[in-house]
Amino acid sequence: MRLIKKLGAGFMILFFCAAVFGAEEKNEAKILLHGGNNGEVSFDHKLHQTILKDCSLCHMLFPQETGGIQKSVKEGKLKEKQVMNTLCINCHKEKKKAGVKAGPVTCSRCHSKK
Ligand code: HEC
Ligand code: HEC
Ligand code: HEC
Repeated sequence: MRLIKKLGAGFMILFFCAAVFGAEEKNEAKILLHGGNNGEVSFDHKLHQTILKDCSLCHMLFPQETGGIQKSVKEGKLKEKQVMNTLCINCHKEKKKAGVKAGPVTCSRCHSKK
């Protein structure tokens, strides 16, 4: 009886750790981007790095750092919504047109209001 209880507790701890670390890994791949009044945009960086391969595709517009878009906007190097329109939506539209896997083009599928 006692052994079973101990084993049970051990498994509980294992499952707990798996749940916590699993969640953490997922969060690292996603970056929350400032989306103004329409709400934040959860961007899966890892997914895009994997499918697109060419970093400069996006990073020729803004630096490889967290908050890089906002920084460039503040410095006047980027306009608000420029990344959204010229990069994100543009590419998703092109992919859709080409009939291959594409990302969302409707506001609420990128922006989440809290
Ligand atoms: C589809 C567009 C896109 C592509 C392709 C892309 N990135 Fe990014 N990257 C972003 C965005 C958006 C951010 C967040 C910027 C912000 O927070 O304002 C970012 C942030 C980063 C950061 C800082 C955050 C972090 O995770 O440390 C690094 C470093 C980075 N990118 C490196 C790369 C490298 C290396 C590649 C190529 C293998 C790449 N990126 C490809 C869009 C892209
Ligand atoms: C593919 C994802 C995507 C879609 C679809 C999308 N957005 Fe965005 N939006 C973004 C990203 C990423 C940003 C932040 C980067 C930028 O400002 O370019 C943003 C920024 C914004 C901003 C904030 C500008 C600022 O800096 O204050 C507004 C407002 C906005 N979007 C409105 C909209 C509206 C309205 C629609 C639908 C017509 C829409 N978005 C559709 C991804 C998207
Ligand atoms: C050059 C092309 C390209 C660019 C640039 C691009 N995407 Fe995508 N995106 C894709 C493709 C292709 C998919 C579909 C991937 C799949 O489902 O396998 C996708 C999928 C997505 C998805 C749905 C998958 C998920 O994460 O749930 C979101 C949201 C998204 N993109 C947001 C963005 C935002 C925000 C930006 C701009 C910062 C952006 N994308 C820039 C090509 C692009």
